[in-house]
Amino acid sequence: MVSYKELGLVNTREMFKKAVAGGYAIPAFNFNNMEQLQAIIMAAAETKSPVILQVSKGARNYANATLLRYMAEGAVAYAKEIGWENPQICLHLDHGSSFELCKDCVDMGFSSVMIDASSLPYEENIALTKKVVDYAHQYDVTVEAELGVLAGVEDEVSAAESHYTKPEEVIDFATRTGCDSLAISIGTSHGAYKFTPEQCTRDPKTGRLVPPPLAFNVLHEIEKKLPGFPIVLHGSSSVPQEYVDMCNQYGGNLPNAVGIPEEQLREASKSAVCKINIDSDSRLAMTGAIRKYLAENPSHFDPRQYLTPAREAMKQMYIHKIVNVLGSNGKA
Ligand code: G3H
Ligand code: 13P
Ligand code: ZN
Repeated sequence: MVSYKELGLVNTREMFKKAVAGGYAIPAFNFNNMEQLQAIIMAAAETKSPVILQVSKGARNYANATLLRYMAEGAVAYAKEIGWENPQICLHLDHGSSFELCKDCVDMGFSSVMIDASSLPYEENIALTKKVVDYAHQYDVTVEAELGVLAGVEDEVSAAESHYTKPEEVIDFATRTGCDSLAISIGTSHGAYKFTPEQCTRDPKTGRLVPPPLAFNVLHEIEKKLPGFPIVLHGSSSVPQEYVDMCNQYGGNLPNAVGIPEEQLREASKSAVCKINIDSDSRLAMTGAIRKYLAENPSHFDPRQYLTPAREAMKQMYIHKIVNVLGSNGKA
């Protein structure tokens, strides 16, 4: 049993309290490899932003669970080394699918876990979430739960369409489970194809797809039911056209990729939404930069050469989110 406190990590409790009161959101960035982690920590350290490092089940399978845990521990030391005196870094399990997976993460030093039982019937979601909360709280690990189902694929959770969170259920759910934060469904979804072209309109000037707005009415109703309770938005990449174009210009094929407009995330950040999950934008920035570099330098084969601009592109993207969208800069 390793306590996250010994690793210099923090849970989400204070972070969320301050974010809700201050009208900003904490960035939750997924990482699977060293370059993503370096870019996240450099961006958070430079902007003095609290940050949530997210590890999915897929990331654990890809990189090895033990290695990722030690990388997060190393991230705290690295943050201090590059001048962030008091790093506020949370290590969070993203989309935990079982009690055993959540327990494993608590036991190996995670400071926060998500139990995603949103695809189960309501009472089963409550029972499983409460079981995780009861275990995690013994070690002061915070727990994110989910109510409502996002469109698309959530690790092994799939749904043909989005089912918005029902505001009439949130008080009962939060009270009976004791969860610390709640992921809700208001129209976001995972990946780089959040809406079909049929669901969008087209901007007459640019010809770009314009997605339908998020269901802010549902968010506001939830806020009224649970004043000050931390709300989480998954699937919040904006799918920047700059990186989609870069991928496509240098041999990629990502037609009609579309994300959540940044103005809407900016608006959400000012509400009870205090954690915003971003993964796809990092993948797009990294892939776009690598494609461009290799196309322009066909004789290069040292990965450090093409991973340097990839890391820089991710870092700039993270800084942009922190400063211009979530407003968490200067809060740590
Ligand atoms: O919500 C999903 C995250 O983007 C993680 O994705 O399961 O492919 O690692 P992954
Ligand atoms: P995106 O696919 O929009 O980046 O969402 C990531 C996410 O929700 C991770 O849990
Ligand atoms: Zn998610």
